[in-house]
Amino acid sequence: MSIALVILAAGKGSRMNSDLPKVLHPIAQAPMLEHAMAAGRGLDPARTVVVAGHEAERVRAAVAEIDEEAQVVLQSEQLGTGHAVLQARDALRGFEGDVVVLYGDTPFVSQQTLERMIEARSRADLVILGFEAADPARYGRLVMQGETLERIVEYKDATEEERAISFCNSGLMAADAAVMFRLLEKVGNDNAAGEYYLTDLAELARAEGLAVTAVACPEEETLGINSRADLAAADAVFQTRARAELLDIGVTLMAPETVYLAFDTYIGRDTVVEPNVVFGPGVTVESGVLIRAFSHLEGCHVSRGAKVGPYARLRPGAELAEDTHIGNFVEIKNAEIGEGAKVNHLSYIGDASVGKATNIGAGTITCNYDGVMKHRTEIGARAFIGSNTMLVAPVRVGHEAMTASGAVITKDVGDGDLAIARTPQINKTGRAEKLMDMLRARKARQNKGS
Ligand code: UD1
Ligand code: CA
Repeated sequence: MSIALVILAAGKGSRMNSDLPKVLHPIAQAPMLEHAMAAGRGLDPARTVVVAGHEAERVRAAVAEIDEEAQVVLQSEQLGTGHAVLQARDALRGFEGDVVVLYGDTPFVSQQTLERMIEARSRADLVILGFEAADPARYGRLVMQGETLERIVEYKDATEEERAISFCNSGLMAADAAVMFRLLEKVGNDNAAGEYYLTDLAELARAEGLAVTAVACPEEETLGINSRADLAAADAVFQTRARAELLDIGVTLMAPETVYLAFDTYIGRDTVVEPNVVFGPGVTVESGVLIRAFSHLEGCHVSRGAKVGPYARLRPGAELAEDTHIGNFVEIKNAEIGEGAKVNHLSYIGDASVGKATNIGAGTITCNYDGVMKHRTEIGARAFIGSNTMLVAPVRVGHEAMTASGAVITKDVGDGDLAIARTPQINKTGRAEKLMDMLRARKARQNKGS
């Protein structure tokens, strides 16, 4: 059966207290909307429609980045969840199959749960996703009669007796598209909130004699985000899950609760991650790597057998080949480091390529920026860059070439050549002793005078 996702994302999210629309707030460094869309993608939808309203243009731009085939429709006034889904009708004209409604601010529903909803569609015309709430608070309550869901009552409209029900509405639902839009047209706004409730579909479907049921999932999956505190809690849930998955596939996390992962962090088997490591978006780490404490990685690729850190910073475009060593207080940006090369101490390597088995001495800097433009530094294989070398780009140091420590390299160095670029040293015999005597005498005169 064909599936269309309708993802509600028009709300302002006032309690976020933010200029950024709620659904664009990040969890593990991806907008929560992206997590919601990713959950739905597991159903292999033929169509995806995002309903935007508040800050719609920003939402539209974000959706285009996440999934260029997704459509965005506008709900110019937020008149309720039922009204919101109705805005997707034109976009889905001609579509035959099931509509699955997701919420942009409910990012953790699992693929298995969504699959169980679709499965339940063989028994019912309308399927609602519910959960046993530890604290039902203001959620809509599911009024069940055996397997049948009779109706959903919003907290505001519920009687004391109905408020005692702990089986709650997640908001997610599935039904045949034609049925859903037909029922939606019947929804009114005669209720405590004066809104067009999507939840009214249950009672309307029952009135037509249609079968309505609820599927239950763990409360964790329906976690809705309304405040910054909820956002932090959601991030924590994500982190816990992601760390557990890594441990499961054979990654060692020495202190799992101190490792911060991004939504797309990939780490291979037998890699060891020491405490307090942060992964930004776009990191892939192969097997058998050691990431030492307090390192920060984003947009980079680390190959098998590499050692990184402690206190290393890998920025976007850092590409480490096998068995490379990147040591403490080293920053690598937009640079390829060749197999077995070492950059062990206090260096900045940016917009560069470093050849195989090259050794970069402590304190080496690629001076890649002239204040206006960025320039590249190329270093060949098996080269030796002396400590505290400044490589003023654009510049090339050849294979098996050397630079003397303290060199400021402004001209290319040929293969096998040695570049010395510093003021020659002069030693003055006995001069230190004389200088000291003179200084001590000066101090003694000053002390007498005061
Ligand atoms: C809704 C449900 C409630 C359920 C709860 C679960 C209704 C009437 N109530 O209540 O039964 O327990 O979710 O979290 O559906 N939205 C729009 N346009 C609108 C209104 C809302 O796009 O006009 C979007 C919001 O951005 C949000 C989602 O729909 O992503 C839910 O809306 P919200 O106002 O948070 O609904 P609740 O009152 O929490
Ligand atoms: Ca809500």
